[in-house]
Amino acid sequence: MPQQRIVLKNCDVIDPERIESCLENGGFQALAKARGEMTPEQITDEIKASGLRGRGGAGFPCGIKWEGARTAPGDEKYVICNADEGEVGTFKDRYILEKDPYTLIEGILIAGRAIGAKQGYIYLRAEYHFLLQHLQNAVAQAREKGFLDGFNLEIREGAGAYICGEESALMDSIEGKRGEARYRPPFPTTSGLWGKPTIINNVETLMNIPQIVLNGADWFSQMGTERSKGTKVFSVCGDVEKPGVYEMVLGSPLRELVEELAMAKGVKLVQIGGATGRLLPCAQIDTPLAFEAVLGAGAVTVYNESRDVIDIVHRTMEFLAEESCGKCTPCRQGTEVMAEVLGKFHRGEGSLKELRNLEDLSSAMMLSSLCGLGQAAPNSVMDSLQHFRAEYESRVAK
Ligand SMILES: Cc1cc2nc3c(=O)[nH]c(=O)nc-3n(C[C@H](O)[C@H](O)[C@H](O)COP(=O)(O)O)c2cc1C
Repeated sequence: MPQQRIVLKNCDVIDPERIESCLENGGFQALAKARGEMTPEQITDEIKASGLRGRGGAGFPCGIKWEGARTAPGDEKYVICNADEGEVGTFKDRYILEKDPYTLIEGILIAGRAIGAKQGYIYLRAEYHFLLQHLQNAVAQAREKGFLDGFNLEIREGAGAYICGEESALMDSIEGKRGEARYRPPFPTTSGLWGKPTIINNVETLMNIPQIVLNGADWFSQMGTERSKGTKVFSVCGDVEKPGVYEMVLGSPLRELVEELAMAKGVKLVQIGGATGRLLPCAQIDTPLAFEAVLGAGAVTVYNESRDVIDIVHRTMEFLAEESCGKCTPCRQGTEVMAEVLGKFHRGEGSLKELRNLEDLSSAMMLSSLCGLGQAAPNSVMDSLQHFRAEYESRVAK
């Protein structure tokens, strides 16, 4: 039952300050195998066959991304580890970075071998500055042991912008520009950092790589559902007795995570995937946690019966309006208007016409925004209108 620790297998087991402690637990064996026994194509094929999908929110198949960068023309390629972890309610990457930086470095080095990159970056969110020295120490130890072997790994710090977790804005930020979403195509696999083929993966995605290389794609793909293989690490917070980081096989019911592991009682709704994520009413608490149902980056915020859903959605929208990069109109204007209208409902000053406007605006933003922020910003509005419409109607001005 509930937890299965694969990604987190070394966490609270090894000493994260000493690479020897990781080596005693089998660390860097996968790198040796990837370098000594496998061609870049074999590594990519293994990751493809495993069915591993990105853990940063969008769930893109990892092996396909790697293949795109591996076969892209050019000698200069880059690997980026996305450690921005800006999603509201997420703290699983922080846990991994603190407890097992070595497996992450191993995953980055295998990625480098797979696509033919000699340079990698860990993009660390500004608020995780306290982890900078810790990570630098881990990279220095890996270098000292000879694991970097012609690969240069640098850590770049963000400056506190939510949008810089979005992959194209993140690359702008590394390039020293103001972080804004880029138009696509071209995609990063052919034209990413400084216009060169680049793969960008979430911390948790890269943590899975050494395990897959060592144990094989079949081992990995036996876990999970048809379209969601392996495990997922969740950050659970809100109205629960045991907030924390939990790892479960994909497809596990939300109820097990929220009620059995985190010990929530009297649940009214659960926000899954943070500010751009989905709102599930208690009636849907048996929903499987999988890409085909609901997942995101694994942020799970629980709200009990005492919470006001319109307050939650309003605050979520205020955050997104504040964090929109402003490059595209639907997102820049849409989030502002939504925050304003939701504020009216919150104060009991809404109208039925504005309810319909919220729906129309939601579809326009989803269809026409440049990146995931604007496209997914209306999720909580749409979900709350579907499941808690009566609460909106009760706030219509008399
Ligand atoms: C507004 C926004 C913020 C994002 N923030 C993060 C983040 O903090 N960490 C992350 O890994 N991915 C984040 N993403 C997703 C990335 O754009 C990208 O899909 C991910 O880094 C790819 O890695 P993966 O395939 O391993 O998930 C964000 C996306 C959007 C639209």
